[in-house]
Amino acid sequence: MQGLVIAIDGPAGAGKSTIAKIVAKKLGYVYIDTGAMYRAVAWKVLAEKKLDDEMTDAFIINAAKNIDIDLKYENDKTVVRVNGTDVTNEIRTPEVSGAVSQVAKLPEVREKMVTLQRKMGENGAIVMDGRDIASHVLPNADVKIFLTASIDERARRRCKEMTEKGYDVSLDEIKRDIAARDKADTERKVSPLVRVPDAELVDTTGMSIDEVTQKILSIAEAKRS
Ligand code: DC
Repeated sequence: MQGLVIAIDGPAGAGKSTIAKIVAKKLGYVYIDTGAMYRAVAWKVLAEKKLDDEMTDAFIINAAKNIDIDLKYENDKTVVRVNGTDVTNEIRTPEVSGAVSQVAKLPEVREKMVTLQRKMGENGAIVMDGRDIASHVLPNADVKIFLTASIDERARRRCKEMTEKGYDVSLDEIKRDIAARDKADTERKVSPLVRVPDAELVDTTGMSIDEVTQKILSIAEAKRS
């Protein structure tokens, strides 16, 4: 039997990539982090722009036009290359997080990313996480999960992750960034973050990584039988 297509959507900091990675590993599936693709475009835009006011829609669309994004899962992490340059760490900086919503709202950028994502999903046996996977990228996914958590918990998790990486960030600053991204992601015109009616809602507030993983594996198992 062909492997399942598992779509995991949800807001920033809900734990999607942590969970999706473990679920994919347990099932022997491919894991695709679509947020990393939008981050890769944002990184390229920031690297190419010389002036602050240069970041217009036209500039972003042009940077996205000739981008080659390569995602490879190596040693438990997604290695991201943009036109051959390894940008795995660079796409997680606060600067990229601050710029990515402006990039992800543009239909021309999304169209290009969605085409690549659908290609990656066509053979099944995949776990893909993002904002519009069940609603737009892979609407026929076998398993649809909407993963969320309270904003305070999401901010705490992100803050811990960034502090461990050596960034000097405050909880308030992270909470403001997450709230701004929630607003941008849910209110944008093209493919906003939504929970489709047939997606299973999983609120991870107060749940351990193991509990969330087990819950999703049991939902997937039920689909398989
Ligand atoms: O999941 P993340 O924080 O790495 O995502 C980065 C940004 O990319 C996020 O602000 C929303 C956007 N995104 C999107 O619009 N559609 C997706 N499928 C994945 C991410």
